[in-house]
Amino acid sequence: MLADTAELARKAAAKREGLGAFNVVLLEFAEAFVDAAEAAGRPIIFQLSQNAIAYHGGRLEPLGKALLDLGASAHVPVGVHLDHAESVDLCHRAVDMGFTSIMYDGSKLPDAENRATTAAVADYAHAAGVSVEAELGEVGGKNGVHNPTARTDPQDAAKFVADTGVDLLAVAVGSSHAMATRDAVLDTGLISRIKAAVPVPLVLHGSSGVPDAGMVDAIHAGMTKINVSTHLNVLYTAEVRRVLAADPAVVDPRKYGKPGNAAVRAEVERLLRLYAGE
Ligand code: G3H
Ligand code: ZN
Repeated sequence: MLADTAELARKAAAKREGLGAFNVVLLEFAEAFVDAAEAAGRPIIFQLSQNAIAYHGGRLEPLGKALLDLGASAHVPVGVHLDHAESVDLCHRAVDMGFTSIMYDGSKLPDAENRATTAAVADYAHAAGVSVEAELGEVGGKNGVHNPTARTDPQDAAKFVADTGVDLLAVAVGSSHAMATRDAVLDTGLISRIKAAVPVPLVLHGSSGVPDAGMVDAIHAGMTKINVSTHLNVLYTAEVRRVLAADPAVVDPRKYGKPGNAAVRAEVERLLRLYAGE
């Protein structure tokens, strides 16, 4: 069933559990995510990024409708989230379609402009009952260069939430986007301080680079929505590469897609259980 992303995050935060949020790069990833979440008996968030929509020719509706349909028919709560949208128009379209949350990413904008635009997007979304995530302190790596140096100030984060009315806040605490290795070191002391200052659930971007033990510590310190993309791409592509290398005559995408999807499904189930403290 579909569920409000922020509500799922608030419930997880109250138990100091993580809420897994996984990026849908290919549509079949979402099918693997449903299977994994049902097997784990855990809620899950499907994330569709502005970049992924661009990859699919800029078409939000076909993918978005499929995700909403998959989520609605799942036997666990599913949030459908627009990820890293820098376009206000795209945010409005996702709200109008019935996404359960959107992320307006104004982290590259001058501070005042980020606050004002985020607040306006939040007003639009809230009028439709849709939750909003924003980012304060740009988490690096979106340009492909690993950069874990940004840090979010706890008091600034509290003021940002008050100024904008967002329901979830992404913060910079040592992760970096698009890492294919799992050796990032998070600042758990900073996570605790932000958690104490901010009244909404915290979101970790660039979670692929964080090893299991570091993630468990981060969740205990107060991190809740855990965004993972690259790590799953690594596993999927390794399986596809293995199958193609073993049999260069393969031409049917299902022959390599199936093992790729199976690898994604198994790892998402494992991560959901890890985030739940199992
Ligand atoms: O918003 C998506 C996440 O931040 C994913 O980052 O690809 O480094 O796991 P990642
Ligand atoms: Zn991100």
